Amino acid sequence: MAVRYWPEMEVMHRPAAASPPSSQVEVGSRGRTAGRTTSQGMESGPRAREGIETAKGAAASVRLRPVRSFVLREGRLTAGQGRAFHQLWPQFGLDWGPGTAIELDRLFGNPRPVVLEIGFGNGESLAEMAERDPGRNWLGVEVHRPGIGHLLLEIERRALRNLRVMRRDATEVLAEGIAPAALDAVQLFFPDPWPKRRHHKRRLLNPHLLPILGRAIRPGGTFHAATDWEPYAQEMLEMLEAASDLFDNAAGQGRFAPRPALRPLTKFERRGERLGHRVRDLVFRRR
Ligand SMILES: C[S@@+](CC[C@H](N)C(=O)[O-])C[C@H]1O[C@@H](n2cnc3c(N)ncnc32)[C@H](O)[C@@H]1O
Repeated sequence: MAVRYWPEMEVMHRPAAASPPSSQVEVGSRGRTAGRTTSQGMESGPRAREGIETAKGAAASVRLRPVRSFVLREGRLTAGQGRAFHQLWPQFGLDWGPGTAIELDRLFGNPRPVVLEIGFGNGESLAEMAERDPGRNWLGVEVHRPGIGHLLLEIERRALRNLRVMRRDATEVLAEGIAPAALDAVQLFFPDPWPKRRHHKRRLLNPHLLPILGRAIRPGGTFHAATDWEPYAQEMLEMLEAASDLFDNAAGQGRFAPRPALRPLTKFERRGERLGHRVRDLVFRRR
């Protein structure tokens, strides 16, 4: 049975002849945005408003694509990050395609508990956690290449053996790559808040993700999220507490958790603090 892991699908209009094959015009549910996609179907590059006009004017083929929680901007790799992809990816990166179960014991070469981090950004806080906690294995899932290159360099610099990296949509990985109850914990730090109402559908933590998390995390394991965007924090709290068949709030009903001492400051957290945002942690235990 197909797993439905995205809350919504977007209609895409592909102009018949007016545009080169690599550019696709995305018309969101209200027909407002436009962008390009990569060969992996991930969005890339600046949104091209004129593309909407092209779509309106040309006979277009229509297809659906999932609403993703990220807009992929390739960014430029530094020379060091480029080297990291060549030399370190074969050792620490995992190439994976949907439909295949990831054998975590084989991946890490041991059966220790595994923590999966969704969207690690530049990966510094993830590398630090993995270094401080060698008794567990750590799997980072990110889509942004420069961030992944940065983490590979951190793995090398810190000589870590308990950290592996995937370049995929974490929602797919959790839904299709992870065996039931295989994870000790999942962490999601400072996910993009998508503050505009019309973009809320892109928020990574949404009601469709909860059963996927519930399936992947072992009973007694944890889901730990942090955000500096208060409305998103409140939404997460309500959503997770509503899933009371799956999760218990470790901080007590209606409460945010105290900041766990083990969570290092992340890049986006520093940015939030500079802006004067209050940081909220949510720690939920799998029932
Ligand atoms: C606001 S940044 C936060 C990065 C980091 N956690 C931090 O606190 O510095 C959000 C990150 O999540 C990544 N991301 C968003 N959706 C994702 C998905 N579905 N799968 C993997 N990574 C994702 C983005 O590429 C981005 O690097």
